[in-house]
Amino acid sequence: MIVTVTLNPSVDISYEVEKFQQGGIFRARESQQTAGGKGLNVTRVLKQLDVPVIATGFLGGKNGEFIQEQLEREKVASSFIEIKETTRSCIAILEKETQTEVLGPGPWVKEEEIKGFLEGYSELVKKAELICISGSLPRGVPQDFYRDLVKIAGDSHCRVLLDSSGAPLAEGVKGTPYLLKPNLEEMESLLGKGTGKKENLEEGLRDLIKTGIQVVCLSMGGDGALIMGREEFFRVEVPAIKAENPVGSGDAMLAGWAYGLLKGYNLEKASVFATACGISNALEKKTGRINPHQLEEISGQVKIVPLNRGRKRK
Ligand SMILES: Nc1ncnc2c1ncn2[C@@H]1O[C@H](COP(=O)(O)OP(=O)(O)OP(=O)(O)O)[C@@H](O)[C@H]1O
Ligand SMILES: [Mg+2]
Repeated sequence: MIVTVTLNPSVDISYEVEKFQQGGIFRARESQQTAGGKGLNVTRVLKQLDVPVIATGFLGGKNGEFIQEQLEREKVASSFIEIKETTRSCIAILEKETQTEVLGPGPWVKEEEIKGFLEGYSELVKKAELICISGSLPRGVPQDFYRDLVKIAGDSHCRVLLDSSGAPLAEGVKGTPYLLKPNLEEMESLLGKGTGKKENLEEGLRDLIKTGIQVVCLSMGGDGALIMGREEFFRVEVPAIKAENPVGSGDAMLAGWAYGLLKGYNLEKASVFATACGISNALEKKTGRINPHQLEEISGQVKIVPLNRGRKRK
């Protein structure tokens, strides 16, 4: 079983308008409300891959109820901790070519609620084979919280896949997760913190591996990914596609990694599968969805280019 952690989910509201302008008033052509959050995207893709998965995190107020109902409708098993404050909303204004987003800051989570989450999480970890931790932290939750979650999982010999940004990612890294999946921006901000290694990604990847992390998958959108393992270092080349909506491709990729690791794939096979999931998401209109029937065909178009050049790393 895989456990996904979404501490700061959201009700994602989108409005389609002809032309958006600052300071104006607009009537939307179409409007949609969905249960959002990076960890929920991962959960949905895992569900599509037919893997037993349970989603956890914080939910509160009417927005929390909405998300819970959506998950039930999608038959996603969940074990969220109820909080007093309301789960956030995120608003996207969609024009033909551009998208403007306003992300809610998230509720304040109280100390007892955090304690309640940790109790539930510790129990889930005992039954889990893998944990996927994704996204931002709501207010009140300490910045080093992911580090604690990674350590709790590690104590139960449970592998953690971490996909976050900023301080929660930098702190989470200190817990030594099994796999990291930063995108270029997240990686640069992670390395930029006093290391002076912004220009040297290979060196940065190696430094992360030296801390005990087993796999770093640096995803680069349409430019594929760089993967470093304990011994391996390679580039994943992706075919040129007509992307419908690449938002959530990283989340689909993380789900693909979790699937591959669960099935015991080697690093190359898992990389190809995870990449195919990312590409499939980019081909779909809906965020955090793939077409499972396409994965084999897409995988055949993904190429692994070794970068080790026979050199053994120190
Ligand atoms: N336009 C694209 N063409 C081909 N493959 C893509 C494209 N966009 C994404 N992918 C695939 O999905 C993977 C993850 O995408 P990306 O690097 O954009 O993740 P991300 O920035 O974390 O996205 P998000 O956080 O929105 O989920 C890429 O490594 C690639 O394999
Ligand atoms: Mg991402």
